[in-house]
Amino acid sequence: MGEKKRTRIVEIFRQLPFGEDVTVMGWVRTKRESKKGFAFIELNDGSCFSNLQIVADKKVKDYDAVIKKISTGCSLSAAGKLVESPGGKQAIEMQANDLTVIGIADPSSYPLQKKRHSFEFLRKIAHLRPRTNTFGAVTRVRNHLAWMVHGFFQQRGFYYLNTPIITCSDCEGAGEMFQVTTLDIGNVPIKDGGVDYSEDFFGKKANLTVSGQLEAEAYALALGSVYTFGPTFRAENSNTRRHLAEFWMVEPEMAFCDLAANMELAEEFLKSLCASALESCGEDLAFFEKFIEKGVVRRLEKVLSGRFEVIEYGEAMRLLERKAPDFQYPVGWGHDLQAEHERYLTEEVFEKPVVVINYPREIKPFYMKVNDDEKTVAAMDILFPGLGEVIGGSQREDSYEVLRERIRETGLNEEDYWWYLDLRRYGTAPHSGFGLGFERFVQFVTGMANIRDVIPFPRTPGNAEF
Ligand code: 4AD
Ligand code: MG
Repeated sequence: MGEKKRTRIVEIFRQLPFGEDVTVMGWVRTKRESKKGFAFIELNDGSCFSNLQIVADKKVKDYDAVIKKISTGCSLSAAGKLVESPGGKQAIEMQANDLTVIGIADPSSYPLQKKRHSFEFLRKIAHLRPRTNTFGAVTRVRNHLAWMVHGFFQQRGFYYLNTPIITCSDCEGAGEMFQVTTLDIGNVPIKDGGVDYSEDFFGKKANLTVSGQLEAEAYALALGSVYTFGPTFRAENSNTRRHLAEFWMVEPEMAFCDLAANMELAEEFLKSLCASALESCGEDLAFFEKFIEKGVVRRLEKVLSGRFEVIEYGEAMRLLERKAPDFQYPVGWGHDLQAEHERYLTEEVFEKPVVVINYPREIKPFYMKVNDDEKTVAAMDILFPGLGEVIGGSQREDSYEVLRERIRETGLNEEDYWWYLDLRRYGTAPHSGFGLGFERFVQFVTGMANIRDVIPFPRTPGNAEF
């Protein structure tokens, strides 16, 4: 059963090699048996959306016994000749010579049936849901986008950087961190009335990273342009359709770069990913369009069709204040944008992606550059229709004095950031970057309503099964 002899179904549909003898291996989606002594089997091997139809008749060795063994979900090796499909539903099908069930799937307990299952149900069997049309398609699109993320930055001379997963700092300053410890939590060492972290594994309190940005800055201020693409963790207790406790972020960071250039890059980046999905994921996108969200393809095309709208935070608030009674959450200077506000701006006011810049310093993290007005910081959030915030970014504070003041002002411990401050003492330079929430972007491209359904094994409050 060597890999060499196996033909992937995607190649069969691509090349249409009529008359060739091949072996395919995959999982049976359905079997239809005729009393006249033949059977149709739909086989999927994950290489593409389409199933290969296999027609079997009495010519197949041990026909009755092998057909009996075949059921939805079993793994099957099928050898035979590829012929033009008379049905017209597909171009090509296989006339089987030999069928071998590799692994049975007991029909009395196999949880995936031909009917459509709810996404809630499928989350409970996250180990089997990749065998459904939807999750196969999501996985292939996600893979393509990940590949294109690297392609985009590699083409532009950015270096791919692996930043630590375990850190001792809180990049976003929001305190939403998962602690990492080897202390016995039932019996922690106490010193001066508090936990004695000097006895912990790292000799100090450590946590899973919420962002690779601070470390990426160190490398940007040496190599010019870098990007990270890795998992990040947030212990936010928000059970929404766009929050995960573990999610993947793409974080480019550029030296000698201001907010305007940062915004340019972000727009170009998002457009290039959308264009590439349209170009390369046609079969899967057609499925999303038909069965998941009507209009998803048009929405992708619209991203490409014009410039993103750029507005000041203050202007955004003025627009929102006009509709204040319609919102659940308060609007006005000093309030953060909630999902409902993001949707109003992107879907009703501008009907396209919106970049909101220059937020009040009080509601943004310590590392953002304080603008000349001293009231706002050089932040940019990119909001997408149907989704809300997909990118958060900024120009970074490059003044040692101002940064130190901001660390104090936001209640962080200056000693924890000594090395980050050092970057402003030795060869500081204007620099900027942003973070793309990868799952949120996959949601946008696929139209999947819930973020739990665009990551293989979601982690959310109360859920870490699998
Ligand atoms: O806006 P955020 O918090 O920005 C940062 O972390 C910066 N350090 C990025 C940078 O400048 N290098 O997060 C960035 C993006 C958000 O816009 C959102 O798309 C996504 O990460 N995100 C989440 N995605 C899923 N689940 C969550 N809990 C998320 N929190 C943020
Ligand atoms: Mg943000």
